[in-house]
Amino acid sequence: MNKIKFTIDGKECFAEPGQTIMEAAKANGVYIPALCRYEGLKPAGSCRVCTVRVGRGHMAACTQPVAEGMVVENIVPDLEDMRKSLIEMLFVEGNHLCPTCQKSGNCELQALAYRYQMLVPRFPYQFPVRQVEPVGPHLLLEQNRCIQCLRCVRGVKTTDGKAVFGSVKRSGKKKIAFDRDLAAGLSADAAKKAMDQCPVGALLKKEIGFMVPIGKRKFDQKPIGSEFEDKRS
Ligand code: FES
Repeated sequence: MNKIKFTIDGKECFAEPGQTIMEAAKANGVYIPALCRYEGLKPAGSCRVCTVRVGRGHMAACTQPVAEGMVVENIVPDLEDMRKSLIEMLFVEGNHLCPTCQKSGNCELQALAYRYQMLVPRFPYQFPVRQVEPVGPHLLLEQNRCIQCLRCVRGVKTTDGKAVFGSVKRSGKKKIAFDRDLAAGLSADAAKKAMDQCPVGALLKKEIGFMVPIGKRKFDQKPIGSEFEDKRS
């Protein structure tokens, strides 16, 4: 089948039929910032950090299929500022105390805040009161750090395919909940995988915080997105 030809920020790219803009960008070595997307999981389109512009329309690159002749704008000042504002909003909406977080240095939200050189958010801090809950024998759910990306809802399943996590309530009360019986059956390996799927420090495997020293953590080694061509860098 013929490849689809399109451009991202003027770079000529090629895509397979059915690929999303995000998948095709990656295949062409182009970085589009993202947060709720996780390789191997169906995209949820929930964070909108991957928003790109096609013509006069804005769309989530992780869910929008590529079409022939598309002219995609990605790393341009207004979209980058919009992404920065989304990161700032996530920081003020929860309680993200990076210096004491077990995921510090391995956190995608923190890595994006560094990318956008976030200092003082333009929005007021909300300081919500939220819980830390045990999830079965091996996991903790730190609701203060949850950004509602739904990766756990999509990705953490029992061996017979049942979803352990779900999203409950709406608007400011929306939160991640879980089935206690299913969570009780999660193995240590499944808990580690769940922690790795979480982009922030909301899902933590018990007993393994701060294992990697500062300087050797994931985003100490290389900034987020640095493996791709990035017009910003
Ligand atoms: Fe596309 Fe979150 S990465 S909406």
